[in-house]
Amino acid sequence: MHYSETIQLKNGKNCELRNAEAADASAFLAYFMQCHGETDFLTTYPDETEHDLEKVAARLQASADSDTDIEILAFVDGKLAGSAGINKLRDRDKLRHRAEFGISILREYWGLGIGNVLTRACIDCARQAGFLQLELEAVSENNSAIRLYAKHGFVEYGRNPKGFRNRAGNWQELVLMRLEL
Ligand SMILES: CC(C)(COP(=O)(O)OP(=O)(O)OC[C@H]1O[C@@H](n2cnc3c(N)ncnc32)[C@H](O)[C@@H]1OP(=O)(O)O)[C@@H](O)C(=O)NCCC(=O)NCCS
Repeated sequence: MHYSETIQLKNGKNCELRNAEAADASAFLAYFMQCHGETDFLTTYPDETEHDLEKVAARLQASADSDTDIEILAFVDGKLAGSAGINKLRDRDKLRHRAEFGISILREYWGLGIGNVLTRACIDCARQAGFLQLELEAVSENNSAIRLYAKHGFVEYGRNPKGFRNRAGNWQELVLMRLEL
């Protein structure tokens, strides 16, 4: 799917949003590694992600070429500051109405409004793709994310008390949220 928009952030700077493609692989990997090292609220540790640039490029291009999935990147002053995406759950008739949403932003760019615009953009894309339900899971202590999702209409439908077990050996409860589109 394709998406393109420029918005103004709370600090007055412009933020360019557009869908990722193969040429973004190197910047995307650097952003991903930094972002996933800055918080304990995400599923993947930096060393668990794909590091082969050709494979990263192929995945990003597949999302650009997809009719359903998308990865939207947010650039500030030309730097990749955050990204969010939707992915269909599974290619099965009974599941075709459901998509998963994920978002992460570099810590230095938190609180500027990027989370809001990326979430709105992904909800618009999910509707456009024909999905009827957008879903996510968030660590219950991740107040910023849960407030962001609630603001955009997501509602909690359950909790998994032992959803994550981090490398320190601690359980992290997951809040399951859904948005009817
Ligand atoms: C959660 C996250 C995406 C929010 O992005 P952001 O760009 O800082 O959010 P915004 O500035 O657009 O704020 C959007 C809303 O989020 C909520 N929010 C953001 N920061 C908050 C904070 N410090 N405390 C409480 N709510 C907060 C508010 O509802 C806010 O709405 P408002 O501007 O009307 O008050 C960002 O903090 C992040 O990437 N965190 C690390 C990765 C992560 O946790 N991803 C989600 C995994 S489920």
